Amino acid sequence: MDQNQMMERAEQLVGKIDDLPTIPVVATQVLQLLDSPDVVIEDVADLMLTDQVMTARVMKMINSPVYRPSHEITSLKRALVYLGLRHIREVALTTSFIKAFEAGTGPFDVNLFWEHSFGVGMVSKIIAQKVGYADLEKAYIAGIIHDLGEVFISHYMPDEFARVLAHMEQHQLKLYDSEAEVLGTTHCEIGLCMARSWNFPEAYQEVILQHHTVDAATIDPILCAVVNLSDLFCSVRGLNYGDREWVSFNLQEEQAWQILKHHAPALATMDVERFCYELDDAVPDVQELVRSIFSSTEQAEH
Ligand SMILES: [Fe+2]
Ligand SMILES: [Fe+2]
Repeated sequence: MDQNQMMERAEQLVGKIDDLPTIPVVATQVLQLLDSPDVVIEDVADLMLTDQVMTARVMKMINSPVYRPSHEITSLKRALVYLGLRHIREVALTTSFIKAFEAGTGPFDVNLFWEHSFGVGMVSKIIAQKVGYADLEKAYIAGIIHDLGEVFISHYMPDEFARVLAHMEQHQLKLYDSEAEVLGTTHCEIGLCMARSWNFPEAYQEVILQHHTVDAATIDPILCAVVNLSDLFCSVRGLNYGDREWVSFNLQEEQAWQILKHHAPALATMDVERFCYELDDAVPDVQELVRSIFSSTEQAEH
């Protein structure tokens, strides 16, 4: 089945849904404010304070071991100063995605979904740094959103999704291949439909569509390759939706590795085992971050 057919099928499925989740208005406004050249941190803080859940999550995230403040940070403005403007964008977008999907993810365990997404985001950032990719924040965000389509399938098509999972386990498939066989489309095409409806920048749309088919990437193949490797890495390191998918990979045989090697010749002589070993350090941090974010949800809501 080619990608055009799968795209048509995805458009049909997404087109049927008239209550697609939206990104919270505050998040969009924060992102717009951060894009203006003379942004003042107080304005961002005031805007974020209008959204209690977002504020609670930012405070929890900033105090989690991932960001490692030297002492507890108790005011939002201090938190924003500590984070710096670039990271605020990261946090605002991240918290808003969680909000968009907190209604439930069907057969998916929402914690496992976010563990995978944050894992791929954080590991993407590390890989991006190693290959000298200029925009680390972009790599992080691309990693976080790469599997957005998965939430749609699980949330809006729970019965079909349960069949996809059963088929995947029965035949030891990758999730992507099982979706293609059972649904006639995958989370990549479906995710693209959502990213379009949210007006995501093109480079992110491409990651969502091509992170399993990196050789088809044209806008930012390096970004796609970074996310692809990060995804594979997380899949074999327990940040993988609960060990249900059948994934094995040999880094040096991956198309994404070839793309990155071409871009960063230093990788050619890199000790692959050491490379993976360094990435392993990120795993406990990711689990801690997800725990801290979800405990903030409980606090904000009780
Ligand atoms: Fe994926
Ligand atoms: Fe993934």
